[in-house]
Amino acid sequence: MSKVASIEIEGKSFELPLVVGSENEIGIDIKKLRAETGAVTFDPGYKNTGACESAITFLNGEEGVLRYRGYTIEELAAKADFLEVTYLLIFGELPTQEQLQKFNEDILQHSQVDEGMKKIVNSFPKSTHPMGALASVTSALTAFHPETLNVETEDEMYDAIVKILAKFPTLAAWTLRRKNGEELTDRDPALGYVESLLKLMFGKTGESYEPDAIVTNALDKLLILHADHEQNCSTSTVRIVGSSQASLFSSVSAGISALWGPLHGGANQAVIEMLEQIKADGGDTTKYIDKAKDKKDPFRLMGFGHRVYKNFDPRARIIKKSADEVLDQLGVEDPVLEIAKGLEKTALEDQYFIDRKLYPNVDFYSGIIYKAMGIPTDMFTVMFAVGRLPGWIAQWREMRLKKEPIGRPRQIYVGENKREFKAIENR
Ligand code: SDX
Repeated sequence: MSKVASIEIEGKSFELPLVVGSENEIGIDIKKLRAETGAVTFDPGYKNTGACESAITFLNGEEGVLRYRGYTIEELAAKADFLEVTYLLIFGELPTQEQLQKFNEDILQHSQVDEGMKKIVNSFPKSTHPMGALASVTSALTAFHPETLNVETEDEMYDAIVKILAKFPTLAAWTLRRKNGEELTDRDPALGYVESLLKLMFGKTGESYEPDAIVTNALDKLLILHADHEQNCSTSTVRIVGSSQASLFSSVSAGISALWGPLHGGANQAVIEMLEQIKADGGDTTKYIDKAKDKKDPFRLMGFGHRVYKNFDPRARIIKKSADEVLDQLGVEDPVLEIAKGLEKTALEDQYFIDRKLYPNVDFYSGIIYKAMGIPTDMFTVMFAVGRLPGWIAQWREMRLKKEPIGRPRQIYVGENKREFKAIENR
């Protein structure tokens, strides 16, 4: 196979080298395109643009394949726990017992969040959306950890990494505790990473709290399923912010803001709000399928469609199965699960969705499980952020270790040509 692509611009031919990945994906290397041709590429939303080479996550959207460092999401969700997968994503290998124990100890050592952070969280109105609070306090962490601002060596990066992994679940839980007007408590070192998150969210001051094993296992699996997803909107945000050598905490804070949008991680909240609206409206899924297809109607079927997956999102398959199991084990009857299944069935048989290859994505069923766990709707995207943190860290670390250049896309200007200034009395 030729290792070059040939293009012709205004009668002149150019050859561009090809890059081929370990899964035989082909990229046209345009690093020298503008210098050699004067042209740039044009690709709003970067639908066809490879921003980097990465060894972390592989997706095949046509076949519905998702692997972290070569391991399938199905195996990791069934056989690993979230801290193991966190280690795998960041350092590239599944940890040995000793490595995992040291990683856990290093995280535990930094799990105390600075008292000054409590004052910041308590200064927010109780009505504050948890994602806005989380983005703010993640950046505010730099005030108490200036040593994480200018990191160069792997050791310095490791220090910043274990600190944000240690404090992030507490900060996430504090956004809920603030909403409920509860005291901001600290991590219980006797509990595991996910168990302590549950206690931080739901534990009542002065009362004992035993995390439910079913809820703990289900949440651990959900966090694994959300842990990374190659160059999605929020991860690309983390990479481009980090490419200016902004700190890990600041880059993650930017990623949280990107994730908040309803077209991205905010969809899990929007799905439940949509399902509740359909339920309140008598459960007529056909009416909402028609609204989703109507170009004049801004309504979209939240939790459906994906930039990469043109087949079932493998995570949605796992979460759908888990939703049945968790609700059954918890003895929770939730009519919106049946509405979701009915919506999925109707959509998958509808030509509009078939033609556009629109399938349920990771957000379609996850909110049903979070709801059954007692997690409030506006905390769903915070749970997504807790899950995605390892991916953001892994991608930021890979980008910094490879010393990638600062991200600075070009444009095609379509504005006014040169014109003379007019004094105000002549306008
Ligand atoms: C996540 O990138 C990632 O990996 C993200 C993520 C991750 O793990 O990081 O997987 C997490 O963000 C999942 C996606 C969550 N968002 C939603 O569920 C919101 C609803 N979905 C859509 O808004 C949409 O599908 C996107 C944003 C997910 C993808 O949009 P694209 O790739 O830009 O596709 P598009 O908007 O150009 O749509 C193509 C066509 C259009 O119709 P036509 O103009 O061709 O006639 O499909 C239609 C769209 O109108 N379409 C939908 C639809 N999604 C796409 N029509 C109705 N309902 C929808 N949900």
